[in-house]
Amino acid sequence: MTEQAIKENAYRELTEQALNTLCGEYLPESSEVCRAARYSLLGGGKRVRGILVLAACELLGGSVQQAAPLAAGIEMLHCYSLIHDDLPCMDNDDFRRGRPSCHKAFGEATALLAGDALLTAAFELISDAPLPAGARADAVKCLAFAAGGRGMVLGQELDLRIERGPASEEELRAVHRGKTGALINAAVQMGAAAAGAGGEDRAALEAYAFDLGLVFQIVDDVLDVTSTRQALGKPAGSDAANGKTTFATLYGPQKAMELAGQVTARACGALEERYGARAGFLCALAQSLLRRDH
Ligand code: IPE
Ligand code: IPE
Ligand code: MG
Ligand code: MG
Ligand code: MG
Repeated sequence: MTEQAIKENAYRELTEQALNTLCGEYLPESSEVCRAARYSLLGGGKRVRGILVLAACELLGGSVQQAAPLAAGIEMLHCYSLIHDDLPCMDNDDFRRGRPSCHKAFGEATALLAGDALLTAAFELISDAPLPAGARADAVKCLAFAAGGRGMVLGQELDLRIERGPASEEELRAVHRGKTGALINAAVQMGAAAAGAGGEDRAALEAYAFDLGLVFQIVDDVLDVTSTRQALGKPAGSDAANGKTTFATLYGPQKAMELAGQVTARACGALEERYGARAGFLCALAQSLLRRDH
């Protein structure tokens, strides 16, 4: 295994451990809604956002153990966004993380509430994290700003709007910046908050995160065209079924991937310029997310 893969596995494992432990307290088994939340949360997922929290924290000299609840929190919030994204009123997808979507397994009302429970628990457990009060407040604000009506929710609003007509590249970039970039940026900003970093580090990570978010969503859109339900663990062809313009429909999969490659190179170049070899993990992660197949 490469050094990169060992580190990535360690960050993923720490995120999983935090999720498993914190679920016991914040999403009790006695509730059907919390069981539905756990079904979606603990049943797979690449944990990219949790990994990013821990990697950014370590890059800036913080403790990954102390940041682990933040990694769990963003994965909870991300999972809520997926549960709601799959609902019939949104993308109407019946398969997620290799099994029936939350609303297929538990019904729509329970799935809706499971998303609400995950969204709320994320903030509660970040508020309880073993970090200085200032760092906790900073992390809560980063996540609240990124997740709400000026961030991820706005991106989802714009995403639904482009189902109703053609979209330009500029409009697509705004969709991706909101629905995907905002939470990826929240992840690195929360890592920076846990490390007590500010100013220029935050700006450098923000530039990297929005580039990474754009690439992540371009690849997601291309895989929706080129891959299979089995490989993805979620339906392929969902965007076409919903009449969505994506980078894949705008430019074709090959050109879209070329653009994604250019954006990745830019993101890594800027980070390496600032952090030198210490940027190695985040750059290698960006390269692996460009090449991902699920
Ligand atoms: C899917 O995110 C939604 C997008 C923003 C494209 P991921 O591809 O990170 O989903 P999981 O967490 O691995 O299931
Ligand atoms: C979802 O984008 C983004 C959010 C959930 C915020 P997609 O609709 O493309 O994600 P998938 O393809 O269903 O995972
Ligand atoms: Mg969607
Ligand atoms: Mg979707
Ligand atoms: Mg998609």
